[in-house]
Amino acid sequence: MTIQGWKISNPDGNKRVIVTKELPGQRWLEILTRADCRVEICTSTRVLGIDEIKKGMGDRCDGAIGQLTEDWGEELFSALKSAGGCAYSNYAVGFNNVDVEAASRHGIPVGNTPGVLTETTAQMAVALTFAAARRVGEAERYIRAGQYKGWIPSLFMGDLLWQKTVGVVGAGRIGETYARMMAEGHKMNIIYYDIHQNKTLEDYIARYGQFLESVGLAPVTCRRAETIAELLRQADCVSVHTVLDDSTHHLINAESLAQMKENAILINTSRGPVVDEAALVAHCRTHPDFRAGLDVFEEEPDLKPGLTDLENVVIVPHIASATKWTREGMATLAAANVAAILRGYPAWQNPDIRPFLGEDPPRAAPSIVNAEAVGVSLV
Ligand code: GLV
Ligand code: GLV
Repeated sequence: MTIQGWKISNPDGNKRVIVTKELPGQRWLEILTRADCRVEICTSTRVLGIDEIKKGMGDRCDGAIGQLTEDWGEELFSALKSAGGCAYSNYAVGFNNVDVEAASRHGIPVGNTPGVLTETTAQMAVALTFAAARRVGEAERYIRAGQYKGWIPSLFMGDLLWQKTVGVVGAGRIGETYARMMAEGHKMNIIYYDIHQNKTLEDYIARYGQFLESVGLAPVTCRRAETIAELLRQADCVSVHTVLDDSTHHLINAESLAQMKENAILINTSRGPVVDEAALVAHCRTHPDFRAGLDVFEEEPDLKPGLTDLENVVIVPHIASATKWTREGMATLAAANVAAILRGYPAWQNPDIRPFLGEDPPRAAPSIVNAEAVGVSLV
């Protein structure tokens, strides 16, 4: 049976996989087709509710690929299980929208798509940093409104971040890559806050600093902050790269904003609720020299009242990972996760997932976050 608003690829496949949005590229479909899957894709661009996804699953569904905007919890995993399903992949690296414990209770492996978003997301954090520092949004609105009447020495003066200090909250793959881009490209010193020490980043920056000195330039440094307050006080620009969980919800709140420099910049490309958005609106209102660049929001697609009125905030609609290479790569990884589980393959442990993008991909699921809990073996 075809449900309205869903299209079918490889109708004769023996397994049935649903995908809640059309995904970019063709490779992901080839992977599922080769794994003998009939693929049913929802063609709507609306965010699907739980009932609509359940309807899409019907009474026979072997696997699903879902979006970060959907609530994959007990209800959907129990429906997937009842429909005979045994594989799920999020089309995202972040999986705060997935109740992994519920999936594990139903024995369902949960995949995500790390490794292909790293540079892409870090680049957007850099873009937002300079859009905020150099007032690109304000200046663009001004010129489009026909207000540009001639060159003025003090028109839209911004901040030169060169050789200043960048604070990185969460030094995982994306945070580390952003930190390196800021140190290499803009000679910024790094202060980072993370529950884990990032030795790779520290060593890299130490050696890069030595190199700069060897060619007669000022070195850059990298230091791990003991507390987040220390980072907030010292950084000229703070970029957030944590996961969203109970420990990071409203990690940046009114109190943290008050600890930052008056003319600091706050960047968030992680998840909206890591920043108390209402507190940020209030802070930006009373601190005109403070700037923010946001890709994510607390209640997407809604924005907190007042946010869009603020000239000192640059906003984009959750597009940090939106490059063709990355979004096609995410589709490849999500499809490979589901196809591999349906074929009974083990889960890949190596954080380097690039072999999955190549000609001869490993016979494994690229990234399963609950492999041990559901008894999927590891390679
Ligand atoms: C995007 O936000 C992702 O987590 O992939
Ligand atoms: C980001 O955290 C990634 O895993 O790529």
